[in-house]
Amino acid sequence: MAAAQASAPPPLLVDKVRFGWGGGRPALNGCSLRLPRPGLWMLVGSNGSGKSTLLRLIAGLLSSESGRITATSKPALVFQNPDHQLLLPSCGSDLQLGMPAGLSHEQRQARVELALERVGLSGMALRPIHTLSGGQKQRLAIAGALAGDAGLLLLDEPTALLDPTSQQEVLQLIRRLCSRSEAPLTALWITHRLEELDLCDGAVVMEKGQIGPWQPGPDLRRRLTPLPQGRAKR
Ligand SMILES: Nc1ncnc2c1ncn2[C@@H]1O[C@H](COP(=O)(O)OP(=O)(O)OP(=O)(O)O)[C@@H](O)[C@H]1O
Ligand SMILES: [Mg+2]
Repeated sequence: MAAAQASAPPPLLVDKVRFGWGGGRPALNGCSLRLPRPGLWMLVGSNGSGKSTLLRLIAGLLSSESGRITATSKPALVFQNPDHQLLLPSCGSDLQLGMPAGLSHEQRQARVELALERVGLSGMALRPIHTLSGGQKQRLAIAGALAGDAGLLLLDEPTALLDPTSQQEVLQLIRRLCSRSEAPLTALWITHRLEELDLCDGAVVMEKGQIGPWQPGPDLRRRLTPLPQGRAKR
């Protein structure tokens, strides 16, 4: 089993990708990243370093000028603001939107129930989306990825608008989905909330369109957390 995993292709490989929005420095400048196995992987970096652009390229919303992106499963984006991606009025109808074609009515209903159960929203298929809390909406967006058979979740600051309780719920949900024994998912999670780094399987820093080496999340959090005023670094 371990040997099989060692020889399995990485869930995501980004190889020397270049992309510019036009004018000035390219947003991605020979950017490479290898997610070694399923799990929760985090990406941090200052504003404008190219993180969101990279996720859009991996999701196929943009095309690179050069380089290569290879994923072993279907990618799905989860944005900071779930209102930007939940389109239909009820939870169930929204989940059906991303499902593969050719499913029977019963199969679609079963997928809706299963996806809702997996994110802790059982029985909410008929609930109007506008009655959900911010954290519930974000979990519904994740259910949409599950209902559409995505195996690679691309999360762009998914907790930035959430209170601490909802933040933890979403983080723990993704952690569970990425560490389950059967068909674990792979998540690439962008964050500016450094405490989240403690829960990842590894973290990288992006700077000026390029990505550095993998580091343990807690080590990176300690390095990036500003010291309280008046305390010198030892
Ligand atoms: N739609 C766009 N049109 C033109 N330029 C863009 C567009 N989106 C991003 N850029 C530029 O690409 C560069 C990288 O932006 P990107 O949004 O990927 O950074 P980021 O790391 O996600 O930043 P943040 O932490 O603020 O979300 C920036 O210089 C930005 O101005
Ligand atoms: Mg961004």
